[in-house]
Amino acid sequence: MSPEPWWTSAVFYQVYPRSFADSNGDGIGDLDGLTARLGHLQELGVDAIWLNPVTVSPMADHGYDVADPRDIDPLFGGLAAFERLVDAAHQRGIKVTMDVVPNHTSSQHPWFQAALAAGPGTDARERYYFRDGRGPSGKRPPNNWTSVFGGPAWTRVVEPDGNPGQWYLHLFDAEQPDLDWEHPDVFDDFEKTLRLWLERGVDGFRIDVAHGMAKPPGLPDAKDDIKVLHHSDDDPRFNHPSVHEIHRGIRTIVDDYPGAVTVGEVWVMDNIRWAEYLRPDELHLGFNFRLTKIEFDAGEIHAAIRNSLKATAIENATPTWTLSNHDVGREVTRYGGGEIGLRRARAMAMVMLALPGAVFIYNGAELGLPDVELPDEVLQDPTWERSGRTERGRDKCRVPIPWSGDAPPFGFSTTADTWLPMPADWATLTVEKQDADPDSTLSFFRRALELRRGRGEFDNTELEWLTPPKDALIFRRAGGLVCALNAGRRPIALPDGELILASAPLVDGQLPPDAAAWLVRSPG
Ligand code: NOJ
Ligand code: CA
Repeated sequence: MSPEPWWTSAVFYQVYPRSFADSNGDGIGDLDGLTARLGHLQELGVDAIWLNPVTVSPMADHGYDVADPRDIDPLFGGLAAFERLVDAAHQRGIKVTMDVVPNHTSSQHPWFQAALAAGPGTDARERYYFRDGRGPSGKRPPNNWTSVFGGPAWTRVVEPDGNPGQWYLHLFDAEQPDLDWEHPDVFDDFEKTLRLWLERGVDGFRIDVAHGMAKPPGLPDAKDDIKVLHHSDDDPRFNHPSVHEIHRGIRTIVDDYPGAVTVGEVWVMDNIRWAEYLRPDELHLGFNFRLTKIEFDAGEIHAAIRNSLKATAIENATPTWTLSNHDVGREVTRYGGGEIGLRRARAMAMVMLALPGAVFIYNGAELGLPDVELPDEVLQDPTWERSGRTERGRDKCRVPIPWSGDAPPFGFSTTADTWLPMPADWATLTVEKQDADPDSTLSFFRRALELRRGRGEFDNTELEWLTPPKDALIFRRAGGLVCALNAGRRPIALPDGELILASAPLVDGQLPPDAAAWLVRSPG
């Protein structure tokens, strides 16, 4: 039997490059900054990096607006810095996966610029969704779709003759026009992009908006107004069945590079429809956002895990787990913030790391970072303006990582004028401080990853639920690992077995509230 591919049990570490480490003092993280900090990732014990977009971009959506998908933005150090990163990561045994953005380009992409210049009815416009507006003078958008970031999903252009003319579709910011995947150039160009990075040694891709790309013929109106940054399955903008043909095309390319992995951002909640993306000739992995959607409640957590396992089982695919990312906010804050939020985040990290499958850790989660309340004037997420300043957006979870020292910029940069301000009270959360403290969240994560990697009890993906006390959950992996979570108000007795890790000190030999424990037993 051939061994399982590396990614079936991998710990992926998501690096938001703007916020990780700045090497040149401009206040924005970059690739040489990351390369210089790879020791942190190696000590943490991760298998792979997922790098948010670093390709050429005007940064309207911080890299998700790509002007050249086959070059690295100078802001991040250009191609040479990317090569240094890939080499250095590989030398340390860390794989590198990168974001690719097939649903849209930047409005600065040469194709879009050519489309604007060429005018209505030209071939150049066919690579995007240009349409005439509704109403007598075409003054109203072609349909009622809204942008995920707020406001209409259509923007009207000024034609080369100086008059208002057609509209183009953008499910996100106006600077992110949607590509029309019916046009053969779009796939051909994407193939070039995938092959270029695979040839340069990347180990796979995170596919942005993998449930986007295909649109329903005729672009029919949506039933109701759909909320900003909200995901629902009853939404004509996403998850059109013809997207699967695109994924099959992508898979044939990636299969030319053994070991390379694709993980898709699939915001589809229906299990059957979600699992379709994981058919053997489509994506290798699909993000599972269920744990990011729920409270710290034993019943909800249990249901989310069962439901996730059920969904992946449909295609016999690998489960994936994530508690946070650059879009959804940080778990410490979601679980109530402060001491309690942190305790719960540590407990949930243990639950996630005890589950079979691949895990995604968002940079800073290993330090227990919370979301940051930022003042209006520093907000950069396009959601803020596009929602008419009603949704603050995602900057709160993108504040730079604190490395060392007692004051901002905490070793992240040499300038205190970092792209988002860093809170002064993060002095206790720096890598330096936590490194020296055996009880810190960082030391805890290192230990948890080491156990997950090293102990045979984590082998074998079968999982069984044991009967828990009220407001708790307990599961056992067939390899012999037992994980208990206490989400209630009173301490609970530990299940049988030898304790190998707890997220908080036991109280009179019992597992206190807001804590988790790992124990090992002989299998069977
Ligand atoms: C999903 C990405 O995770 C998010 O950050 C981005 O804004 C949208 N896709 C648009 O590319
Ligand atoms: Ca920089």
